[in-house]
Amino acid sequence: MQVLSKTRLIKAVPGAAHAAAECLERGGLVALPTETVYGLGADATNGQAVARLYDAKGRPAFNPLIAHVPDIDAARQIAVFNADAEALAAAFWPGPLTLVLPRATACPVSELATAGLDTIAVRVPDHALARAILRAFGKPIVAPSANISGHVSATTAAHVATDLDGRIDLIVDGGPTPLGIESTIVACLDEPTILRPGGLARADIAATLGREPAQASETAEQSPLAPGMLESHYAPRTRLRLDAKSVEPDEVLLAFGTPLTGAKATLNLSEDSDLAEAAANLFGYLRQLDAIGAAGIAVMPIPHEGLGEAINDRLRRAAAPKTLP
Ligand code: TXA
Ligand code: MG
Repeated sequence: MQVLSKTRLIKAVPGAAHAAAECLERGGLVALPTETVYGLGADATNGQAVARLYDAKGRPAFNPLIAHVPDIDAARQIAVFNADAEALAAAFWPGPLTLVLPRATACPVSELATAGLDTIAVRVPDHALARAILRAFGKPIVAPSANISGHVSATTAAHVATDLDGRIDLIVDGGPTPLGIESTIVACLDEPTILRPGGLARADIAATLGREPAQASETAEQSPLAPGMLESHYAPRTRLRLDAKSVEPDEVLLAFGTPLTGAKATLNLSEDSDLAEAAANLFGYLRQLDAIGAAGIAVMPIPHEGLGEAINDRLRRAAAPKTLP
């Protein structure tokens, strides 16, 4: 299918889900809101649509995609659940949890979407519009975060348009995404392992499993088990300086709690030191500070507990030297 030269933007009005489903059915690329970040959706069973999706994102084709489905029954059509996976899905779906599971034998998802792996990442999003689109479409939708590969994820329709206007067919504007940080990815293959911290906190996962999940090691993160977890990934152009205790000349400030003084511009993730508010603001504020073109972005320390684990993970990646093309 040809890429439309113009990207259509529609509001979340009645009929939007139907329009999105029609576009997906034609092999189109549709940006849609989820509770975590905006996803760039394509028909998971259509290899050509998936190929276009990789192209639109500028994403290396070895980096597999998450298949989104409306409920656990649909998830069972494409993946094999063990007891841990059943427990996690029952507790947290719909919600910001992605499970990496063995592919089901009759799984109709394109091999390109799973990068030839014998596992598949599955998620049931908790967002009314995303679920309406999934129900209207009736097939799994693969959806990576709706940003150019290597950029920070998009949490508003405007961010999506900045990165992808003219490269995709449709953007469904459902307002800002409530969580603002991507799903937590847990592999349930052998011992449950957190491949990516995210919107569901480790402690909640441990409570449901009845034991601590394993943590993918840094080296494992760069292996095919979690190919997307490249060190420099959520990357603004401006250099980030983490755990800043003071502001240097020509730096702008990403604050948390009571802001440091002396910055030429400041955005505060949360004046009340609320981690959920900070997660929701993170990517949008990184984009805004990056656009100023300052010498650096000083980032105040953020506690590591709860959602802080995922926030610190994204900040560390955003601060890592840019090793990707
Ligand atoms: O919140 C989210 O998860 C968002 C929304 C749109 O659902 N999606 C998202 O997708 O963050 P993406 O493509 O940006 O990140 C998916 C991650 C990548 O790091 C990828 O390597 C990993 O999931 N992944 C996908 N399939 C995998 C598999 N079979 N084994 C291991 N990792 C996998
Ligand atoms: Mg992403």
